[in-house]
Amino acid sequence: MVEIKTAAELALMRRASGIVAEVLALLKMEVRPGISTAELNSLAERGIRAREALPAFLGYRGYPAALCVSINEEVVHGIPDAKRIVRDGDLVSLDLGAVYRGFYGDAAITVAVGTVGPERSRLMEVTEASLSAALSEVRSGARLGDVCHAVEKLVTKNGMSVVREFTGHGIGRHLHEEPSIPNYGKPGTGVTLRPGMTLAIEPMVCLGNPGVVVKSDGWTAVSADGSCTAHFEHTVAVTEAGCEILSVISHG
Ligand code: MF3
Ligand code: CO
Repeated sequence: MVEIKTAAELALMRRASGIVAEVLALLKMEVRPGISTAELNSLAERGIRAREALPAFLGYRGYPAALCVSINEEVVHGIPDAKRIVRDGDLVSLDLGAVYRGFYGDAAITVAVGTVGPERSRLMEVTEASLSAALSEVRSGARLGDVCHAVEKLVTKNGMSVVREFTGHGIGRHLHEEPSIPNYGKPGTGVTLRPGMTLAIEPMVCLGNPGVVVKSDGWTAVSADGSCTAHFEHTVAVTEAGCEILSVISHG
């Protein structure tokens, strides 16, 4: 069962997700060669708390930080570390969640540090474009498989591959709700989308083969072939005509 949120619940999710977007924008400005991933994490945690929200990932299934920082071949769930230093040419994925008055927001961006090679820039562009392609399928009456397929189609057309071990998800009073949202699928299949459904859509894309392995820290997922990866995520609400992106900075 995919929950339908009320207007009041959507307002809280708009704020939770807006806070995530604001803090990600702040982190994007701070990512530079020499900064440690632990420093990025403390900026993230302080940014969330300063906005009267709580870090959603901290303590989730034992995850030890507010932010996931996944660099290059790291796909998702990279644990911040004072000894892990960002370098010129890195692709740094920042994944952040916040809880505001009981409701969750979740979003991720990938940032290019300094001068990155053409393959890596294209990986970032294709991954972000695949998220846009997915969002353009979201509307009342569409099927979830239409959304999932849109990601896969754009990525494979560009000679890259989607990660299959991790998915997007419904979101609301919990970080992970139904439905699960793979980055591949068949058009015309799956849940029928309805206004008030709230989804976290998150393409994870590899330049090389799609296989991933989880490192011995129990969290960091890396591409099995060591190829570079990228990750973008938005929390959105299904509307009658399309989709409202909740994880954006609101100027209201
Ligand atoms: N965006 C990721 C997800 O939806 C982040 C979760 S990190 C965790 O799974 F630590 F909270 F698990
Ligand atoms: Co997510």
